[in-house]
Amino acid sequence: MKRKVIFDTDPGIDDTMAMLWAHASSQIELVGITTVFGNATIENATRNALYIKQRFGLTADVAVGADTPLVVAAGEPTTFVHGDNGLGDIEIPAGDYQGIDKRAAHDYIIDSLKAHPGEITLIAVGRLTNLALAVEKDPSIASLVKEVIIMGGAFGYNGHTGNVTPFAEANIIGDPHAADRVMTTDWPVTVVGLDVTHQTVMTSDYIDRLRMNSASYGEFIYQITRFYADFHKKVAGMDGFYVHDSSAIAYAIAPELFKVKEGAVRVITEGPAMGHTLLKEGDKRYPIDEWSGKPKQRVCVEVDDKGLLELYMATMTQRAAL
Ligand code: BDR
Ligand code: CA
Repeated sequence: MKRKVIFDTDPGIDDTMAMLWAHASSQIELVGITTVFGNATIENATRNALYIKQRFGLTADVAVGADTPLVVAAGEPTTFVHGDNGLGDIEIPAGDYQGIDKRAAHDYIIDSLKAHPGEITLIAVGRLTNLALAVEKDPSIASLVKEVIIMGGAFGYNGHTGNVTPFAEANIIGDPHAADRVMTTDWPVTVVGLDVTHQTVMTSDYIDRLRMNSASYGEFIYQITRFYADFHKKVAGMDGFYVHDSSAIAYAIAPELFKVKEGAVRVITEGPAMGHTLLKEGDKRYPIDEWSGKPKQRVCVEVDDKGLLELYMATMTQRAAL
């Protein structure tokens, strides 16, 4: 049976690549897309989701989410990574992109979880504001979700601690209070952070092969990733780019590609380490312990990067029903 997914996203170049993977996979039924500010303004993120839906024939609902974090001031959209329009500045045909669900994203999430108890996986690859608002408004949804998979954070495994500050990753520092709320809610969270997403790279050769072999998506992915690849080249001298948001889809489809560690997770919400994610392993007792009594979540610490890249390629080129 296909896994029902609501994809919470700020498209975003890598968000779009992940969304298309979820769409193409025979293991996922993409029931909803909820948008959030981050890589783009909420208007551009939503327009991009609707454009992708129309262009590639997605049937998922699209609901508009938060345009500002819970507590901290909103940062600027990260246009230097994703382009002014969020899709690497490709030309997006002017048009009336219709079909927005009338509900706010967090209400859409609440209603969907209630309508399909135990069936829906939330995959969140942007700021966690919508998820935090949903669980804040109706805490009963925590027991209705099948799984929560998050791209965000960095726990120091494989030497990866941050990409915005030395100790914070973009999706978490963008709304640290929401992230702490989501991590400490008693629902089954798996975090796919920089610890593993920085271990997987789509090189220019890989994207060339995808362009050549994926009739449905190759050219489009090639076009939207020019800006993203340039950013990685300028900033990190890389040939290619890290695979962030698609790693969360990979975990949903093939969790065996990852090794995880378990424990309570907290997020630093202020000061120089704001946005830092910390996993407490083991049950050692301390006189003061803000992790104690919090639910144990899973954090990905290793990935079979070759396996992940092969799976993405195979699905997008439809060599097999994957
Ligand atoms: C995360 O930040 C965004 O730029 C990407 O879409 C990804 O979700 C990586 O830190
Ligand atoms: Ca994202």
